[in-house]
Amino acid sequence: MNFADLARELDALRAGTIDAIAGAPDTAALQALEVDALGKKGALTAILRGIGGLPPEDRPRVGAVANTVRTAIESALAVRRTSLGDVELAARLARETVDVTLPGRPIRRGSLHPSIEAMTEIARIFEQFGFVVHESPEIEDDLTNFQMLNIPPDHPARDLWDTLYVDVPDRLLRTHTSPGQIRVMQAMKPPIRALLPGRCFRYESVDASHGFEFFQVEGLMVDEGTTLADLKGLLDQFAQAMFGSGKRTRFRPGYYPFTEPSVAFDVECLVCGGPGCPACGRSGWMTILGAGMVHPVVLQYGGLDPERYQGFAFGMGPERISMLKHGISDLRLFMENDVRFLESFR
Ligand code: DAH
Repeated sequence: MNFADLARELDALRAGTIDAIAGAPDTAALQALEVDALGKKGALTAILRGIGGLPPEDRPRVGAVANTVRTAIESALAVRRTSLGDVELAARLARETVDVTLPGRPIRRGSLHPSIEAMTEIARIFEQFGFVVHESPEIEDDLTNFQMLNIPPDHPARDLWDTLYVDVPDRLLRTHTSPGQIRVMQAMKPPIRALLPGRCFRYESVDASHGFEFFQVEGLMVDEGTTLADLKGLLDQFAQAMFGSGKRTRFRPGYYPFTEPSVAFDVECLVCGGPGCPACGRSGWMTILGAGMVHPVVLQYGGLDPERYQGFAFGMGPERISMLKHGISDLRLFMENDVRFLESFR
C-alpha cells in the first residue's frame, strides 16, 4: 500500500457511502450506514489501519484525506437525517390524527340506590312529625332480636322470622329492625319518637316478593297517654304524604308478639283506587306496614313502667313502599343493581 492506494480507497468509501445515504429509506437504515462507515469497527477505521505501512511523511496526508472523507459523510448523514425525519414526522402525524371535534365519551352520573331513596323519603316525612333517626346494630343477639320482643325460645312465632346465625347460636343477623326499639328505650327516657331504618336479613328463598336481605324502617313512639288513635292519625298522615292526599286508609287486625293490639295498615289500591284489580288481589286495598301498641312486656324490657307509659310501633319495608308507589312488580330488581333499573330512579 502506498499513499495513492489509500487515498483511492478512502475516496471510494466516501462516494459509496454518500450514494447509500442518499438512497436510505429511513432513519434506522441511516444509523446502520453510519456505524458501518464511521463506527469503531467500521470501514474508515479498517482503511486507516494501513497507515502503519506508509513512510512517516505520508501519514499526515492520509490523515487529512480521512478527515475530509469523515466530514463529507457526516454532513451527508445530517442532511439526509433531517429530510427523512421530516417525512417520518409527517407520516406519524397523519397516522395519529385526532379529530378534536368528536364529542367526548359521556361520564355516567351515579345516584342514590332506590332502597336508600325510599328510606330517605320515609324519614323526611316522619321527621316532620318530630321523629329522630337512630341506628341499631345489624348483628344482634337472640335476647334483643327475639326474647325482649316477647318472642321466647321455642315460641311458634319464631317461624315468622327464619334466622341467619353468625357463629354462635346467640349471635344472629337481625331479622327485623324491631330490636332497635329495645335499644332506644334502654338508652333514652320518654317522650320517645324514634325512627330506625336499616338492613335486615332472613333465611329465605328469593322470589318476586322475598329477599334474604332487605331494608326496614321501624318507628317507635312512647309517652304518657299515647293511644292507638295517635298511631292511626300518624300513619294516615304518612300515607297522604307518601302516596298523595285524599287516599283512604284503614286498620285491620293483625298479629305480632311485640304489640297488643296489632294491626295491618292498608292504603286504597294505588292502581284501581278501590273497586279491585289484579294489583290488589281484587280487594281494593294494599297493605303497607304492620303496627300496634307496644306490648307491656316489651316496655318493661326497655326499662319503662307500662303503668305510666304507653307506646306504639310500626315497621315497614321501604322496597315494598317503593314498589307500590312506582308499580314495580319484582323485589329482586332492588338487589340486582342493573343500571337500567337504577337509572330509572334518577
Ligand atoms: N318487625 C315486623 C316484621 O319484621 C314488622 C313490625 C310489625 C314492626 C309491627 C313493628 C310492629 O314495630 O309494631 O315483620
